[in-house]
Order: sequence, then structure tokens, then C-alpha cells
Amino acid sequence: PMRNPAIPLPAHIYPNRRNSAGVDLADPLVCEDLQARLEQLAGAQWGDDGEPVRSPQDGSLVGRAQTASPDEIDSALTQARAAQPAWDALGGIERAAMLDRAADLFEAHTAEFISLCQREAGKTLADSVLELREAVDFLRYYACEARMLFAAPQPLPGPTGEENLLRLHGRGVFATIAPWNFPLAIFIGMASAAMAAGNTVIAKPAEQTPLIARLAVKLCHQAGIPADVLQLAIGDGRVGAALTSDPRISGVAFTGSTVTAQAINRAMAAREGPIGRLIAETGGQNAMIVDSSALPEQVTRDVMSSAFQSAGQRCSALRVLYLQEDVADTMLAMIRGAFEALVIGDPAQLATDVGPVIDAEARQALDVHVEAMRTAGFAMWQRDLPPQTAQGHFVPPTIIEVGSITDVGEEHFGPVLHIARFPSGGLEQVIADINATGFGLTLALHSRIEAARKLVENKARVGNIYVNRNQIGAVVGSQPFGGEGLSGTGPKAGGPHYITAFATERVTCVDT
Ligand code: NAD
Ligand code: ALA
Repeated sequence: PMRNPAIPLPAHIYPNRRNSAGVDLADPLVCEDLQARLEQLAGAQWGDDGEPVRSPQDGSLVGRAQTASPDEIDSALTQARAAQPAWDALGGIERAAMLDRAADLFEAHTAEFISLCQREAGKTLADSVLELREAVDFLRYYACEARMLFAAPQPLPGPTGEENLLRLHGRGVFATIAPWNFPLAIFIGMASAAMAAGNTVIAKPAEQTPLIARLAVKLCHQAGIPADVLQLAIGDGRVGAALTSDPRISGVAFTGSTVTAQAINRAMAAREGPIGRLIAETGGQNAMIVDSSALPEQVTRDVMSSAFQSAGQRCSALRVLYLQEDVADTMLAMIRGAFEALVIGDPAQLATDVGPVIDAEARQALDVHVEAMRTAGFAMWQRDLPPQTAQGHFVPPTIIEVGSITDVGEEHFGPVLHIARFPSGGLEQVIADINATGFGLTLALHSRIEAARKLVENKARVGNIYVNRNQIGAVVGSQPFGGEGLSGTGPKAGGPHYITAFATERVTCVDT
């Protein structure tokens, strides 16, 4: 299981902030109660108008959502521009109070969000619980940041007796463009940081997951955030492109694929008017390195969760496992044992480890990759899909033995794990090969050798290094998350430098 404990944070850093306790699925009474609520919600239709939204698990109708028209986008931009000065002037304390209220409302709608995460995004129960926790954590974290940084000016030294004050303000209107794989946490994380900093926001969810986003925005409005401060723009990449190419947008916070981030970067550069800010969190080609000092049971557990939890649909997920040659056969045997035990199927069942991938396109892309690797002659192990998955977008969990990370090509976003071997003394070359991919998101090391850890820390160009644990499930405020190179611009979400990227700085100097 993923580690995401409710960690009390040092009070002097973030007064009164604790990460959400979430839902304790180990408590049978809590679990029973939640399951009963989920059963009541199982047939609910979320909205009557617009495009149908279907479950990746079985194609059933979850609800409908209306795509934003060009006129609606235009008027949303006008309203967002008009509303921004007053929202900025409100100050960090009042904005934080609304974000905190939204967090409380999210927790009060736990069953609805979990039901939607399962039905609309195909998430397992455990992943759905974690998704909601992370969303709540983001809201409360950025509320704290707003209180600390946006409530009062910061006095700076005045060497000649002058008064110097530094103030942070919103930059204007932010477009926040979200992926489907964290349809609630990342969707609301980007929007709440932008709002906390004094920006108005037009939030575009991924086209696959508009219903979760719609509920999140509705609850933010109920929490007091004005309708023109946070507006929802449902639609596919064309809606995103209309927003990012408009000069009325002062900044874009994007999470998704590297190729889309590059397209947005070009679109923003081609606009007339002020230079926009782009914060992009993108893909990865994440590795785990296991040497002969690692504990096999721990490695097996962490490989399973890193590669196959969320059906491998996490940007942080393990794609290439490097095993030191001397222990590779033993490790591989244990990993294969655990792999054969993975439960594939309905995400609504508590026992399920691997649910569906998001849609037919994702499934086809993964099938094409696996077939290409098979044709190229790489050894592989693949699970059979159970018959009850026939109506859904399921990809059989797969392990492929490769020579090195360069055989893998691009990011393959699903339950496909590649395994390579490296010789004793070959750690530096492995790190060089990982760096050469240009991605830099997560890297795990399983080793009891201090020098190995130091080498990884000194040489690997990745945002999040995990030692002797899995590499997914970054906790807000404790493991700020984000990469470098092809994996994103930074700063890290859920970290102390994130919110200032959404702000502009103004200094007043008063001479005496
Ligand atoms: P995607 O790039 O296809 O889509 C992301 C969003 O961009 C969607 O809302 C989409 O509609 C929009 N979009 C598409 N074309 C656009 C355009 N031209 N202009 C503006 N917006 C456009 O990504 P996805 O398939 O939804 O998400 C999976 C990807 O996200 C993976 O690569 C994964 O690694 C990455 N991801 C990264 C992080 C991170 O923190 N680094 C987190 C989650 C997911
Ligand atoms: N923050 C997510 C994780 O760490 C992407 O898995």
C-alpha cells in the first residue's frame, strides 16, 4: 500500500495545518458505511445536458457535460479579468478562509467524490480515497500559504533609513489545465494555488473527467468563492488552446503530457501582449535502481505499488526497474510471484489492485507498445484479463525484460513494467542513461549503501528521489512534487515555492 500518513507538520512552519486523515479503509465499520453510500450512488447520473461521459470500467453512462463554446470562453475571460482586482484586494486571509471552507465541504462530500473517481476515472477505492485526501491537502496548504505570504507586506532592510515593503499580488487571470489521472487533486491543486495568490481562474479539466471537476467547482462556490473568480471550461484540447493563446490570460498552470506542454509554450510565445507565465508539470520515464544490499521483500512490495497501483497511470509511476545482475534472478522470481497475484478488475471492489486504463485510445497505445516489444524479441510476462473486464478498457499487466532504458522509448502510461540488469559497479552508467532520457521526475533507489545514495543524489537530475520505499504518493507539504527537463518547469506542487510562481512582486520604497 501507498504511504500517505496524516503527518502533523511543524507548527512554526504552517500553523494549524494538518494533512487530511482521509478514510480509514482498514476500519471495517468505516468501510461498510462507505460501501453502503457508494452503492446508493452507483446508478446516479451526474447531469442531463451535453456530451455523455462513460465509465472506463464498463462503458456505462456516468453523466453528461456541456463543452464550453467559443462565446462562453470569451465571456468567461472578460468576467475573470473584471473580477481579478477585487479578488486580489481581498487579501490572503479572506481568500484562505474560503479555501479552508471548500476543503471542509470536499470532506463532507467524500462518498460523492469517491464514487465519481471510481466511475468516471476508473480509480480503485484506495486510490479514490487518496485522491480526495490530496485535494483537501492542497486546499489547506495553499490557504496557509495565502495567510503567510499574501496578508501583509514584507518589510525589507532600509540602509539609508527608507522604508521598503515587498508585496505579493495575483498576476491576473490564470488558465489551469488538468489531466484525467488526478481529476480532483491536480485539478483543484492548480486552481487553488492560483486563487490563493490573488488570481482569478478559468479551470479546464481533462475531457475524460469533467464531472468530478464540476462537483469540485460547485463546492468551491458554495464555500464563498465568487462564480467569476473560479469558472469551469469543459472541453478537449481545443478549449485549452483557445485559453492559452488568448492574451487576456496572464499565466497557465498545466499538468499533462510533455508534448502538450510544449504546444502550450509555443502558443503562449506566439501571443501579442504581456509575456505569460507557464508552470508545467509533465511526464516521466521513471526508474528504480535495486542493488545487492536491498531487502527483497521490501523491493517486491514497492515495485508492485510503484508500477501497478493506479494501473500505472501516475506520472510518478515506475517504468524501468534496474536490478543488479547478482540478485536479478532472485528478485525477478519474487516480483513475478507478486505480479501473478495482482487482482485485476472492478475498481469498486475493495480487493482490486489494477483497474482499467482511462479510454480506448490509452489502451490501444499500450497494446501497440507491447506488441512492438514482442515483435522486437524482448522476453515478457503478461497476465490474462479476467472475462468480467471485457466491456472495459483494460490492459493486461505486463513485465518486459529490456537491455536498458533506451529500449523503452517514450513514456508508456499504464501497467507495463520494463526490467533491465546492470553489473556490479555499474550504478554511475545507469544514472547517466536515465539522465540521457531528458526526463527527470521520480527515481527510486533500494540500497543500504550510503555511497550509492550519495551518488544518486549528486548525479541524478530528477525532482523526487525516494530511497528504500515506493516512488508514488508524494505527500503535500512533505514531498513537494515535480520534475525538471522534459518533466516540467517547476516549482513543485505542494511545496513552499509553488504559490509564488502564481504571483507578481511589487516593492514600495518610502524615503523619510
Ligand atoms: P494531455 O497532455 O493529453 O492532456 C492534459 C490536458 O491538456 C487536458 O486537459 C487536455 O484537454 C489539455 N490539452 C490537450 N491539448 C491541448 C492544447 N493544445 N492546448 C491546451 N490544452 C490542451 O495529458 P493526459 O493524457 O490528460 O495526462 C497524462 C499525462 O500527464 C502523462 O504524460 C503524465 O505523466 C502527465 N502527468 C504529469 C504530472 C506531474 O505532476 N508531472 C501529474 C499527472 C500527470
Ligand atoms: N503526486 C503524485 C504521486 O506522487 C503524482 O504519485
